[in-house]
Order: sequence, then C-alpha cells, then structure tokens
Amino acid sequence: MAPTSRTITETVGLEISGLSSAELVSPAGARAAEAALADHGVVVYREVGLDDDQLLELSRMLGTLVVQPTGEHIHPEIQTITMDPTKTSALMASYRHGNFHWHIDGATDEVPQKGTLLIARAVDPAGGDTEFASTYAAYEALSESEKGAIESLQVVHTFAHAQSLANPDPTDAQRAQWDRVPSRVHPLVWVHRDGRRSLLLGSTATEVVGMSPEKGRALLDHLLEWSTQPRFTVRHRWTVGDLVIWDNTGMLHRALPFEPTSVRLMHRTTLVGEEQPSVGVPA
Ligand code: OGA
Ligand code: MN
Repeated sequence: MAPTSRTITETVGLEISGLSSAELVSPAGARAAEAALADHGVVVYREVGLDDDQLLELSRMLGTLVVQPTGEHIHPEIQTITMDPTKTSALMASYRHGNFHWHIDGATDEVPQKGTLLIARAVDPAGGDTEFASTYAAYEALSESEKGAIESLQVVHTFAHAQSLANPDPTDAQRAQWDRVPSRVHPLVWVHRDGRRSLLLGSTATEVVGMSPEKGRALLDHLLEWSTQPRFTVRHRWTVGDLVIWDNTGMLHRALPFEPTSVRLMHRTTLVGEEQPSVGVPA
C-alpha cells in the first residue's frame, strides 16, 4: 500500500499511514521526518512498528541521543514510559505523573531537548491519549501589544514546580529530592535561529523574573491556557506500533489520564538540544 499523509489540523500535526519501518528508517525517511517536523511540529506514523534497534537508528539520524539510564531498558538511550507496577518502580512512576501536565521535555536543562520520539508498545483502551499544543501558533496569534508586553521576560523553571502539580502533598524527603534538580532561567519568548518564535512554558514554569509571584503566576497560567486552546492542539489516540515525533522546542505535550496500574508502555528517545533559547534578534 502506498503511504498516505494528511495534515491533522491547519496549524499542527501530520499523520502518515502505510509507511513501512524500512522506508522510515532510511536517509530519505529521516529527511522527510525532519521536513515534516519543521512544517507541522508533530508527525504521527501510524502502526509503523519500529523495533528498538530501528528506533535508535532513526533517532541517531535525527540528532544526538540523550543518555538517561534508568536500568529499565538494556539501551540507556531508551526510556520506558510506563507506570505499570510490574515494569517500573514506585519512584519512577511518581515522577511520570508529571507527564499528565502540559510540559516540554528537558525544560530545566540549559538547552531543552530538540525533539522526542515516542512509540507505543502497549496501550490502554480506557485512556492515555497524548495531546500536543503548538506554542509557535499560540505566540503568533497573540495581539501585537501582548507580544510587546512579554517580549523580554524571563522565566524560572523548576522540576519541583512540575512535580508539585503531579504530587501536591509531598513529604519533606520528596520535596528535598525535587529541589536537588537545579532551576533554570529561560526567555519566555524563544526566538529560533530560523526567526520563528515559540513560548517556553509548561509545568516547570515557576515564576517570572522581576514580577511578584502572584503576577508572574497569573501571567504564566494565562499564557498556558491561551496556548492549549483547541485551535492550537492535536490529540493522538494510540495503537500499538504508532510512532510520534515532535519538535520539543515549540510543542507542549501531556498524557491524558489513565489508571496508574495500566499496562500502557511507551518507548522513548530524546534528542539533545541544539539551540540555546535566546531572546530578541536571532544570532
Ligand atoms: C514523555 C511524555 C507523554 C505520554 O514521555 O516525555 O510526556 O503520553 N509522555 O506518555
Ligand atoms: Mn514529556
């Protein structure tokens, strides 16, 4: 069957069906993925069914892999995204509750990750869709005066804030563990090398530098709500073997609720960031 593609919405997402794993895991397949990511932010490969070696091979064609050994997978570049108590520890499961809140991957790193590849190994028919929101589109749709008002703001990102949304009643030990991850200041408006602009927001966004905590919180909440309106978002319902790749520098994402005992299992790779978030005129 010849592959077919369709744009999911005008602003975000391209879905490709009927592509074989061998076609995708090839120089031409990787180039097409890069082009689709640049144009659509999120690319869904329906039931493409890459095995783990193919996932690594494709990921390496798209960038440098983040190595994040959890001991849960024989490859330290593959993370097992699951809360299934037969497959992961209670600690890892509690961290992964953070995935239920809008975020970008690696937002507390100096350079947030460039992209993420997520493939479904086991799905939950009762839940666990994934949603994406384009903050390129959200920024673009702001009024000129709103754009001007936020142009040079900087935001403090913390792991603790993201975790406190997911686990609102932590023990002192949990809190201390979260606080060990260094906080990071990023511009609110990320001006990319190609001149495009996105908003650097999400669950790690804690306060706005130079604003009272209340005013900063209100602004961050407003911009997150703005960015995650249906017109800027797409929602993916998983089938085993679906691969989704997203541009993590301009797409917020979150998992929709599923039971903590669910068999849901994703394999994930992330690509090292290549672009330091910068303000103003791009270098
Ligand atoms: C992730 C993530 C969402 C999901 O793995 O980074 O946010 O739906 N996953 O599992
Ligand atoms: Mn994520």
